[in-house]
Amino acid sequence: KRKVIIDCDPGIDDSLAILLALNSPELEVLGITTCSGNVPAKLGAENALKALQMCSSLNTPVYIGEEHPLKRELVTAQDTHGEDGIGENYYDKVTDGKLNSNGVDFIIETLKNNKDVSIIALGPLTNIAKAIMKDKEAFNNLDEFVSMGGAFRIHGNCSPVAEFNYWVDPHAANYVYKNLSKKIHMVGLDVTRKIVLTPNIIEFINRLDKDLAKYITQITRFYIDFHWYQEKIIGCVINDPLAVAYFIDRNICQGFESYTEVVEDGIAMGQSIVDSFNFYNKEPNSIVLTDADEKKFMYMFLKRVFKGYEDI
Ligand code: BDR
Ligand code: CA
Repeated sequence: KRKVIIDCDPGIDDSLAILLALNSPELEVLGITTCSGNVPAKLGAENALKALQMCSSLNTPVYIGEEHPLKRELVTAQDTHGEDGIGENYYDKVTDGKLNSNGVDFIIETLKNNKDVSIIALGPLTNIAKAIMKDKEAFNNLDEFVSMGGAFRIHGNCSPVAEFNYWVDPHAANYVYKNLSKKIHMVGLDVTRKIVLTPNIIEFINRLDKDLAKYITQITRFYIDFHWYQEKIIGCVINDPLAVAYFIDRNICQGFESYTEVVEDGIAMGQSIVDSFNFYNKEPNSIVLTDADEKKFMYMFLKRVFKGYEDI
């Protein structure tokens, strides 16, 4: 099993990513850390518990991390994910889940106490930047780092050029690209925009597992309305689970190595600058994913998360 920390900001698609990770036998999820992004870090952590409860994994520890981006004011995405971060519908209280604090310290300690821990980051990179600032050496034990974020050839989703996670904390994102000793697997909008959860798939899910279908229908309704209102798409783009799927199976996304930086201020704030033609003549610090096999992804997601799938 590969040891991983999931760093996230749940979030509707983060919640789906947690379901996929906890149903994947290849992974040992050592903990989930949250930072502020889609919603404030504490609310995100409560949502992580709800996702864990949905897959009977409340024994996985959840740690609240950084409440604010490094330098910018926090701008959440509650217009996209709902006031509660999960579609303003699923308010059931988690009774037996417990939250921990100090997410950054958890990341550092986990890296120090284990060999070959990987991090799958599904939100802004604030926790990761802080952890590197605090203890860069701990990252010598890091195995792989996958980040859902950025955009290469595609329009942004927060500005014409910026993707949300890097836009929320551009200083953290740039710091991580410049200071991580490992290449960052950038699972950006180029690939995640291909992953659309359609009403048809949700209807299909309904046939597989009523409980999970209720949860997914409730948390995605708001997101589906948002996509229709914003871009006239039927269904919703689920970015984060693709990063988990790619971590498990490298055939799900293809890309190339490149040097990448993130713009910290100004009109292009949060843009990932991918030097695909090597103008800067710098060592590659990233693997930028550009192609995704959406059918392979959807098959993996449905097969793993919904137990009834095998009976069809
Ligand atoms: C990213 O932004 C968030 O709203 C999603 O959870 C995802 O991580 C997509 O740009
Ligand atoms: Ca996210």
